[in-house]
Formats: sequence, structure tokens, C-alpha cells
Amino acid sequence: MNILGIETSCDETSAAVLQKGHVLSNIISSQFIHKTYGGVVPELASREHERLIVSVVDRAIIEANIQKTDLDIIAATSGPGLIGAVMVGLCFAQGLGYSLGLPFIPVNHIEAHIFSPFIQESGDRKALSEPFISLTVSGGHTMLSLVDPDLHYNVIGRTIDDAAGEAFDKTGKMLGLDYPAGPLIDKLAEEGDPEFHLFPRALTSHSRTSRSYRDNYDFSFSGLKTSVLNYIEQNDRAFIEKHLPDIAASIQAAIIDVLVEKTVAAAIKYKVMNISVAGGVSANSGLRKKMAFACKEQDILLTIPKAVYSTDNAAMIASLASLKLARGRAEQNSYDVAPFASFDYC
Ligand SMILES: Nc1ncnc2c1ncn2[C@@H]1O[C@H](COP(=O)(O)OP(=O)(O)OP(=O)(O)O)[C@@H](O)[C@H]1O
Ligand SMILES: [Mg+2]
Repeated sequence: MNILGIETSCDETSAAVLQKGHVLSNIISSQFIHKTYGGVVPELASREHERLIVSVVDRAIIEANIQKTDLDIIAATSGPGLIGAVMVGLCFAQGLGYSLGLPFIPVNHIEAHIFSPFIQESGDRKALSEPFISLTVSGGHTMLSLVDPDLHYNVIGRTIDDAAGEAFDKTGKMLGLDYPAGPLIDKLAEEGDPEFHLFPRALTSHSRTSRSYRDNYDFSFSGLKTSVLNYIEQNDRAFIEKHLPDIAASIQAAIIDVLVEKTVAAAIKYKVMNISVAGGVSANSGLRKKMAFACKEQDILLTIPKAVYSTDNAAMIASLASLKLARGRAEQNSYDVAPFASFDYC
């Protein structure tokens, strides 16, 4: 069974082919046009997807060493995301599927992130057989879910304001870094002192507010943003430049401490011995290290996708379609499905 997956929810145009659930190709074309604007411009994103979609899909099929006529199923992101961007990939996928007479499976982008740690490559033995706590940390979402291997999940916590990726990107922008700043802060932090400045860790045991953090799995990063802004305004530019790695490391530590504390606390509370971390921020080297250390201390098994499957990619879309098919949970022939912009927390 060959599945073609297509992903265009934000600023990556991506197509992947999976054969019997294993990745044969995963082409990702990132849009650099947005750098000049310091964030993604929705209309430009849609136009770039339109420009790139045909060649990206062709490359995915060529790299998989198959023909279009060898495809059995088409899957595509139906949301959440930038509505125009989602529409480009969804309409293209539906058009291609219809012309080839194939079943079409719509895939929720955030659910695809949740299950991305279980993307199979040839020779892989990763199995989705146990319940797990999923920390999904991306540019637009930060949430903790209790997930079962049948693909059911309950969201037990989420951000009440900014996403973790957004916190990286916006504090990075304040420091003069390009968009997306997450990977740049990660790189700078390698050379910096994470204890150089104590930025706030809201709704955790480190928090100075009276609001209870116990059994509270929600996140808040807007206070961190304000705190970084105040810190930059209170110090001169030369000081900030000189200590850029230390400030980056301190910001990263503030974000990571919150993510690790809440995720491990959720695993203990729900008596689940597996944690997975997904979404663009799961590529962060500091988060990977600290989460691995905390999980080891509690005897919890940690699964994180390879960095290429952390940020937006079509392999995760095709992979969730494949998991749904294997469990008899795929909505096939959904040619009337409409694109949607925001995630419905259940
Ligand atoms: N190494 C890294 N360290 C920290 N953040 C990172 C790293 N790599 C990527 N990111 C962040 O990941 C985010 C992008 O992730 P992703 O592509 O999953 O988000 P998105 O698709 O834009 O949002 P969503 O999935 O919520 O719709 C950006 O905020 C980026 O800064
Ligand atoms: Mg994403």
C-alpha cells in the first residue's frame, strides 16, 4: 500500500510517500520569503504553496521510486493552520486523488504531530502499543495529552496564551534574531549560561505567584515575553550583544523547565510510563537532554521524533493516515471535507 501525504498548513510545502507504513520519501520545501517580515505572512504562504506544490509532489514520487499510478491512498492536512495555505494542499490532494480514482483521508495537523514519534522508517521497531503522555510543542500549539494506542486522546493541559515555539520566536525577535528564532536560540544557548538571568516559569513550582501549580497542566508564556522585553529595555545594547548566548540560554532554560516539569508530573499523575515529545520545539537540543534526564530518573520511556519529523513534514500526515487505516479509523472518501483554521481541544 502506497500513501501520498501532503502538508501545507503553514510555511513548509511538503509531500511524502509511505509504503506499508514506512517512509520512502519526505520532501520539505521551507519558505524563506517570510524572513524579511519577521513572521509568516499568510497570503505570501498560500502563493508560495501554489508555486511549489506540483514540483514537491513530483519529487516525493520520484524519490520513492514509484509512479503516480502506483499510489493507493492520498492524505492531506485539512487543518488547523493558515486557512489559505491549508486550502492549497487540501484542494491539490483532493484533485489528484479524484483524478486517479483513489480514496482520500483528511488528517488533523496537530494529531499528526502527536503521533509523529511513531513514524516508521525501514528497519524501525518503534511500536505504538502503550498509552503515553504527549507533549506537543510547536509554533502555534503547546499541549499535554493522554493518548492511547487506539489513537484516542484527551487534552489535559494547554497554553492559556502563547505557544512555546512562539515564545522562542518572539523573545528571539526582541534580541534581534531572524524568524524562526527557535533554532537560533538553541544554537546560541550551547555557548551560554542558563543561570545568567532567572526568567519566570509560570504555573510551576518555580513560580512566585500564589496560583496553584499542582495538578495544573496548563502553560503560560506571555509573562516570560514581557520579562524578556523589560530586561532588554533595562540594559544597554552593548551588554545585550555581549551576553547574547547567556540570555538565549536563560530564556531557553525558562521554557524547558516548564515543559519538563509539567510533562513528567502528568505522567506520574496518570501513571503512564511513556512520554513522547513532538512538534517543532521538540527539535530543541536542551529540551531533548533535560527531558531524557528527567524521564530516566522516573524510569519513563521517552520517544522523540528525528528533527526532520519534528517541524512540519508530510511524512507525519501519511503516517497518521496509515495508523488510522491499520486501526480501521480512517474516514475515507472524504472529498467534501473543508479546510479549518483552529484546533478543537477535546
Ligand atoms: N531547535 C529548536 N529549538 C526551539 N524551537 C525550535 C527549534 N526548531 C524549531 N523550533 C520552533 O518550532 C516552531 C515550528 O514548529 P512547527 O513547524 O511544528 O510549528 P507550526 O506548524 O508553525 O505550528 P503548529 O504545528 O502549531 O500549527 C517554531 O516556533 C520554531 O522556532
Ligand atoms: Mg506544525
